[in-house]
Amino acid sequence: MERELALEIVRVTEMAALASSHWLGRGNKNEADGAATEAMRAMFDTINMRGTVVIGEGELDEAPMLYIGEKLGHADATGPEVDVAVDPLEGTTIVAKGHNNAMSVIAIGDRGTLLHAPDMYMMKMAVGKRAAGKIKLHDPVDQMIEIVAEANNKRIQDVTVIIQERERHQAIIDAIREKGARVKLFGDGDVGAAIAACLPHTGIDLFLGIGGAPEGVISAAAIKCLGGDMQAQLKPQNDSERERCIRMGLANPEQLLQLEDLVRGDDAIFAATGVSDGELLQGVRFLGDDMVETHSIVMRAKTKTIRFVRALHNTEHKPHLPLR
Ligand code: FBP
Repeated sequence: MERELALEIVRVTEMAALASSHWLGRGNKNEADGAATEAMRAMFDTINMRGTVVIGEGELDEAPMLYIGEKLGHADATGPEVDVAVDPLEGTTIVAKGHNNAMSVIAIGDRGTLLHAPDMYMMKMAVGKRAAGKIKLHDPVDQMIEIVAEANNKRIQDVTVIIQERERHQAIIDAIREKGARVKLFGDGDVGAAIAACLPHTGIDLFLGIGGAPEGVISAAAIKCLGGDMQAQLKPQNDSERERCIRMGLANPEQLLQLEDLVRGDDAIFAATGVSDGELLQGVRFLGDDMVETHSIVMRAKTKTIRFVRALHNTEHKPHLPLR
């Protein structure tokens, strides 16, 4: 993949974040998601790539755009053939309620490299570079904490585990507290949480929990770029979900998935733009005088470059874009 694609992709997440940011706190998650999806779809048409959505807004019959299998890129594109995983608005409820941590995210990989994860639950574990390869998804929680403490050169009581505030995680939360480590609970948006566990400046050492499988694959692309590690396991809730996994090519739906199973090879690109303020990025800010500020991160697995992009958009000069 050409490296220019990374900067093209961040323009797409910027527009999706800008479009959905108008819906902050307005109590309507579907409108917020729809605005992000529409803006993202329109921006993809300007890029010279031959993309196929592998993780998107659903199947053709349930999503009018960015559906799985949809082709992306401008009409006579000659650019690379890529898999595209999108979450136009990661944290729809967050935006509806005006809370923190919503982002617009995209991961792309060479054709055939991103896992076609069905829309169901997935158990996930993510750690940064120093603990990479040392922790397994099914290790007991107290052991995981000892390992990250040693890898990150911290005392147990200084270790921070980030986990989504859900009843299904209570046993894990109890085990972390029992061990004496710190717990950071978040309401929604586990892509940002998984990435935060891989960035030393956040002070977060370990991400654990069950969340969406599509978000898991998108997180895995980011983690590849950061040199961290992730393991996962799909959690089909019934026979129909199990059959769906098999139809999507996962012969053993509950197999342990390594980072390499989630995102193959070393040529993934990840971009995210903050919609509301979060662990990783600031949200969209309306500065007045037609100026709007966005904060994004864009990374490539091949070179491991991490770029934080602060952009000032002048809406007066972009009448065709969903900025106003
Ligand atoms: P949406 O943007 O689709 O609302 O997802 C938000 C999210 O918090 C994800 O980050 C996470 O993977 C998933 O929901 C967890 O699902 P649930 O809300 O069912 O616990």
